[in-house]
Formats: sequence, C-alpha cells, structure tokens
Amino acid sequence: MLEVLGLKKHYGSLVAVNGIEFALQPGDIFGFIGSNGAGKTTTIKMLATLLEPTEGTARLNGIDVVMDPMEIKRRIGYMPDFFGLYDDVKVWEYLDFFATLYEVPARERPKVIDNVLELTDLSIKKEAFVATLSRGMQQRLCLAKCLVHDPELLLLDEPASGLDPRARAELKELIAELGRMGKIVVVSSHILPELADFCNTVGIIERGDLKAFGPVREVVKTIQTAKVIEIRLLEAAPEVSMFLHGKPHVTNTHMMGSTTVKVEFAGTEQDQAEMLKHLVDSGYKVTEFREEAADLEDVFLKVTTGAVQ
Ligand SMILES: Nc1ncnc2c1ncn2[C@@H]1O[C@H](COP(=O)(O)OP(=O)(O)O)[C@@H](O)[C@H]1O
Ligand SMILES: [Mg+2]
Repeated sequence: MLEVLGLKKHYGSLVAVNGIEFALQPGDIFGFIGSNGAGKTTTIKMLATLLEPTEGTARLNGIDVVMDPMEIKRRIGYMPDFFGLYDDVKVWEYLDFFATLYEVPARERPKVIDNVLELTDLSIKKEAFVATLSRGMQQRLCLAKCLVHDPELLLLDEPASGLDPRARAELKELIAELGRMGKIVVVSSHILPELADFCNTVGIIERGDLKAFGPVREVVKTIQTAKVIEIRLLEAAPEVSMFLHGKPHVTNTHMMGSTTVKVEFAGTEQDQAEMLKHLVDSGYKVTEFREEAADLEDVFLKVTTGAVQ
C-alpha cells in the first residue's frame, strides 16, 4: 500500500504542499484533482523521490521515500507532466534502453517489451521511429517506458493533457487495466470530469491542502450541501412546485414539464421520507422519487471556491 504521511513542501515562504495524508491500496486508481498551482506536481515529485519533502514522508509497502529513494525508484513508474522522447530511435529500441537502465535481464527484455507494447496497444509500431508517432501514441509509449520494470505504483502527472478525445478514451482504458493488474495508480488532472468516471478514489487539493479524499461517491456526499430530488407524478400537477415550496428543508423547487418536479433539499434521509409521506398523504400519486447523482464538477467548484470548509 501507499501511505502518505504529513507530506509538506515549502518553497521559501510559499507552502506548496501543506502536510497532506492519505493511503491507497493495490488496484486503487486515485484521481488527484486541483487547479493549476494547487500542489499536484510538487506532491507527485516528492512521491517520485525527485523532490525532498520539507517535512513528512510517504511509504510504499513499508519502504520510505526519504530514507530509501533508490529502492522506491525500482518500484515506481513516473510520467512527468512534460516529457521528452528520444525520437531518432525505434519504438522497441527506446523501450530496450529503459529496460536496460532498470536492470531487466537481457534474456527477459524482448518478452517484457512485447508485453508493454501489447498493453499500450503499440505492437504494430514496434519497428517505427518514435518521431513518427502521434501525440497519443507518444503518450502511451511514455507510459510503456514506465512499465518495463513492472512497478507497484504509477505516478501519472496530467497524462491526458493535450490529447484528443479518442486518445483520452484509450488512455483511460489503459489506466483502468493497470488498476485491474493490482497496481496503485495516481493520476492528476485539473479537469475533474476527466477523472471522475474511472477513478475509484479522488482527492481534491487546493493551495496545498487536501480538502477532500475518499471514494468518489463519499467525497460527493460529504461536500454536498443540498441534494436534488427528482419527483415524478402519475398525473399533471403544475401546482406541486408551489405545494413543496416553503416545506421544511426545501430550499428550491422547479418544474420539469407538468409531471416532474426537482426539489433542492437540505434535510436528512428521515426528513426526505417525511416529505414523500406528506406528498402521498396530500393525494399526489408519486411514481418516482429519487436523489439525483451529484455532479462532481459542482462539488469541485464548491470546494475550491471555499464554499465548503
Ligand atoms: N521550483 C519551485 N520554486 C518555487 N515555487 C514553486 C516551484 N515549483 C512549484 N512552485 C509553486 O508551488 C505551487 C504548487 O505548484 P505545483 O505543484 O506545480 O502545482 P500543480 O501541479 O497543482 O499545478 C505553485 O504556487 C507554484 O508556483
Ligand atoms: Mg502540475
């Protein structure tokens, strides 16, 4: 597992990362979300042993990033936000070079290269020169390079930036596969919806503070101030909006057509049950009563604009 323990980084008087803590298990895909300058890259670089923490540390399966950086390097794959490729070599030569650096035994290298090419869907480009690859393919090659030593933890800093939607979809599929292989994947982004659908855990960082951390649904729940309940009725009842308006815990209502009303609701589940009972007791024939899945984008905006403390 990965344990991040009070990780802190100061640049002079600037606190770039302010003592963050979280833990991840094998197979976790962690979406590390924050606007530009929030502290994502600084955190990832400390985990990658490229930057020394001012305070705190992290442990990967018990190995300390500050005490034992060489051992950590063998167990992680790090893809920086900006990377360069040697482009006057062939794809397989490029991977062979890194496999050699990571001390993959010579007789195992061809097999390892074929495996990572297959995983990243680059097998047909094995003999191509790196320079001829599209941006999406170069991104996948960079990821393939990070996989030659079969790392336990992958640190991907904004891997989807600059990719077209199709390349992005392919990258997501690949990251999901890495999770299924039991690796821990940390993937950062400043664009929230990009991560929401394939991460099982998210963390929202703002000015160095980890404002929220946990399973996607839980993070949404803790931050949500009001939920939206959609109520559908059997018969047209445009007045139901007025009927609900001003009832306990109802902060707003709007009709969607003549049989559906959306209710912004700030009460508990108990209060919610009472509202439903009240509706039914008053003669409304309720065919559907459901809490709308909260929009992670809204949650992100609330957290990062300080609407939630
Ligand atoms: N080498 C550095 N020296 C001084 N300040 C830095 C340095 N690197 C980053 N920062 C500052 O630290 C903060 C966090 O930056 P960064 O980790 O790159 O954020 P993100 O990756 O979330 O955009 C920003 O305010 C940035 O300006
Ligand atoms: Mg960054």
